[in-house]
Amino acid sequence: MAQPLGSAAPSGPSERPVADSQVIMNELALPNDANALGNVLGGRVMHLMDMCAAMAAMRHCRKVVVTASVDQLSFLHPVQVGMVMSLKASVNYADRTSMEVGVRVEAEHPLTGQRRHTSSAYLTFVALDEQGRPTPVPRIVPVSEIEQRRYAEAEERRAARLAARAKQAAAREAAQ
Ligand SMILES: CC(C)(COP(=O)(O)OP(=O)(O)OC[C@H]1O[C@@H](n2cnc3c(N)ncnc32)[C@H](O)[C@@H]1OP(=O)(O)O)[C@@H](O)C(=O)NCCC(=O)NCCS
Repeated sequence: MAQPLGSAAPSGPSERPVADSQVIMNELALPNDANALGNVLGGRVMHLMDMCAAMAAMRHCRKVVVTASVDQLSFLHPVQVGMVMSLKASVNYADRTSMEVGVRVEAEHPLTGQRRHTSSAYLTFVALDEQGRPTPVPRIVPVSEIEQRRYAEAEERRAARLAARAKQAAAREAAQ
């Protein structure tokens, strides 16, 4: 597989604390991002969330990653053109080759500084080796109370995702 970034370091640390890979990203909402109501398109917000979360996942494993799934994506409030979209991504959980990353989007009024939570989602990324195959990632070390809570919740979501995928696979097989 083409590797425009070159090769990853042959071996990295076996674990990393959550804080080491967190990403904060700010983006000014421009007319080009908007729908006919002057609010940012949902697809644009999703793209930014994917980018922000992917950077956190790559920082955690220092490997190329792909998005495997997106869960619990919510649009709580619209974001108007002119607002600053502020995204925060944090690796909640890492298993063998996959990582769950939580992303929260806030819209900040640039003149008043007032902020509002507008979107959240959980994205799962899988690290790939140079042949494009899933490859192991370091353990994630939740340190603070909030990181430990997110870790425990992400572990439950992973179990639910695996069960849902197994059910879907069985249904597909039965339909063939
Ligand atoms: C994600 C992908 C690499 C998984 O490949 P695969 O051959 O199914 O790999 P495996 O069955 O060995 O699973 C590898 C890991 O991915 C996880 N995984 C696979 N499909 C998943 C899904 N739909 N949601 C969440 N995790 C998933 C598995 O749980 C496993 O995690 P673990 O190693 O931490 O336990 C593969 O499906 C793929 O390349 N998908 C396309 C990704 C892409 O193009 N994304 C861009 C956005 S469209």
